[in-house]
Amino acid sequence: MIAQPPLLTQEGSFRVLLITYNRHLMQKFYIRTFGCQMNVADSNEMGRHLKARGLVETEDPEEASVLLVNTCTVRQHAEDVAFSELGRLRPWKTRKPGRKLVVTGCAAERTKQSLRGRFPFVDLVVGAKAIEDFGQMAERLLAKRATDEDLDYAIPSMGHQVSGFVTIMRGCNYSCTYCIVPYVRGRESYHPMEQILGEVRDRVNEGASEITLLGQTVNSYHSDGSKGRDTDFADLLEEVAKVDGVDRIRFMSPHPYYMTDRVIETMAGVPQVCEALHLPVQSGSNRVLKTMMRTYTREHYIGLAEKMRKAMPDMTLSTDVIVGFPGETDAEFRETLSLIRETQFDWGYIFKYSPREGTPAAEMECPPLELIEERHQECLAVLEETGAGRRARLPGTVHEVLIEDGNFGRSRSNHKIRVQGDVVTGEIVRVKITAAERATLQAVPV
Ligand code: SAH
Ligand code: SF4
Ligand code: F3S
Repeated sequence: MIAQPPLLTQEGSFRVLLITYNRHLMQKFYIRTFGCQMNVADSNEMGRHLKARGLVETEDPEEASVLLVNTCTVRQHAEDVAFSELGRLRPWKTRKPGRKLVVTGCAAERTKQSLRGRFPFVDLVVGAKAIEDFGQMAERLLAKRATDEDLDYAIPSMGHQVSGFVTIMRGCNYSCTYCIVPYVRGRESYHPMEQILGEVRDRVNEGASEITLLGQTVNSYHSDGSKGRDTDFADLLEEVAKVDGVDRIRFMSPHPYYMTDRVIETMAGVPQVCEALHLPVQSGSNRVLKTMMRTYTREHYIGLAEKMRKAMPDMTLSTDVIVGFPGETDAEFRETLSLIRETQFDWGYIFKYSPREGTPAAEMECPPLELIEERHQECLAVLEETGAGRRARLPGTVHEVLIEDGNFGRSRSNHKIRVQGDVVTGEIVRVKITAAERATLQAVPV
């Protein structure tokens, strides 16, 4: 049947062979994820529920009997891409009987009333607000129950998860006037510290040495504390750093309003916290920031950047910018360009404003599309300029790279680096940068 006795040198390899054999008999699932890291974390979570019911993950949709499309709706384009993928799955669904097609996430939440009409071949819709109930829904869909023990054992049996995500809060209490996220993910709620630390340990057991804490305003974290006061984000960073096996800590997305001195001091003081921060600014104009309801000013943001670079001289700073927000004048757009130059971002994302139905900004008049396009190009060019300037300082410097895939890995500063020579996934290699013209740096081990 399966193994030739000479191969069975030890019990471990026998078990591996048996699992390999069984994988051919087991039902498989495939997940296609759109959107941000929150969605990636949710996909992983839903995958664990399917594994607990005996399914195994596959990279090939054709092999799958359950297929999940986890959608995003932050901009209209993101939603269109997800739904055109869903449309293309009709033949997948009808080709073999018994296949289950599930659509989940933010665009599913936003359009759940009309989704069944548009895509009648979909078996199950799970909106972003209902992700935490996915276990029960999967039970009904597959008519398979899973015990707590099954869930405990549902950790990935293959592959090396070098970097693990842990969601620490869901939803968002902000009302940024362009943003659909609070509508599709609901009001904020924070996970208790013990649950978070448990998930960090799970990720470490699966092979992760880098942990990324996730939330829409991740640094606003607080929960009932045992310290006689609320536990805050700085406390959480300290506790995560104490978990055995955690070499690196990152977090996404912090909000400038909660980037307190205490959080900055903790970032600088706790060795595991990486010197890299993605801090969305959105605009460099105080009037636009106010209309966006971002609750900070240009001066506050620039002050934060200075403070953080002083506390962590090697820190990289990246950002999100929206161009073409309703009412944005040319002068206001130039203020965004000057903020990018002043702050010297290492990299970032420049988004063309996309009106989202039901948000306050969608009621306001948009700049013409050609103007948004023009501003987009100009902003990208300025960001590329500051990024190239920052990278020019790197050749000759020494970094620790966590190898993720083949010869590619990331430094603590979150640069993507290609390391020459033989390296092993999951190892941390000390390297010297040899070339930094492009976003992916080249390096040799030292
Ligand atoms: N919670 C995070 C951002 C989540 S959305 C924060 O507040 O920083 C990710 C990014 O998408 C935002 O930072 C913003 O730059 C962009 N974005 C959100 N809504 C948008 C819209 N309607 N049009 C264009 N970009 C948008
Ligand atoms: Fe959207 Fe603002 Fe909340 Fe971020 S903080 S998710 S941009 S409402
Ligand atoms: Fe993320 Fe998109 Fe939802 S950016 S929170 S997946 S709308």
